[in-house]
Amino acid sequence: MRIAVGSDHAGYDLKAELAKHLADGGHEVVDMGTNSPDVSVDYPKFGEAVGQAVVSGQVELGLCVCGTGIGISIAANKVPGIRAALVHDVTTAGLAREHNDANVICFGGRTTGIIVATEALDTFLGTAYAGGRHQRRIDEITQ
Ligand code: RB5
Repeated sequence: MRIAVGSDHAGYDLKAELAKHLADGGHEVVDMGTNSPDVSVDYPKFGEAVGQAVVSGQVELGLCVCGTGIGISIAANKVPGIRAALVHDVTTAGLAREHNDANVICFGGRTTGIIVATEALDTFLGTAYAGGRHQRRIDEITQ
């Protein structure tokens, strides 16, 4: 699968570890930046870049990380067609796909550790959208 990843400085380390995990698993990773934890940058443009990569079809899914995951998920969700889910564990990761058909997964680099994030990311990738009654709600979001 092709997956775009993006973060600010506060999310850089977790993004880099998750990107390596994805690449090791055979996925094609498209990194939208930032490229260092040492230079403070503003998260909105990285959330937007990941969102645009998804809605343009360049990639199938996106991964965003900032300090809490809150700001970059808000930014990604401003891109029409993006359903970015801020995830904290395996349960929320699975339900984000199953119920919400989320196309971007977001983490807080300062709030979620690498083991939990890796398991949650794998769950997100391995869970199918359930459709059915959830589609009406997705359509309402789109409208
Ligand atoms: C950066 O200091 C921090 O505010 C940002 O990474 C994020 O947590 C915002 O939601």
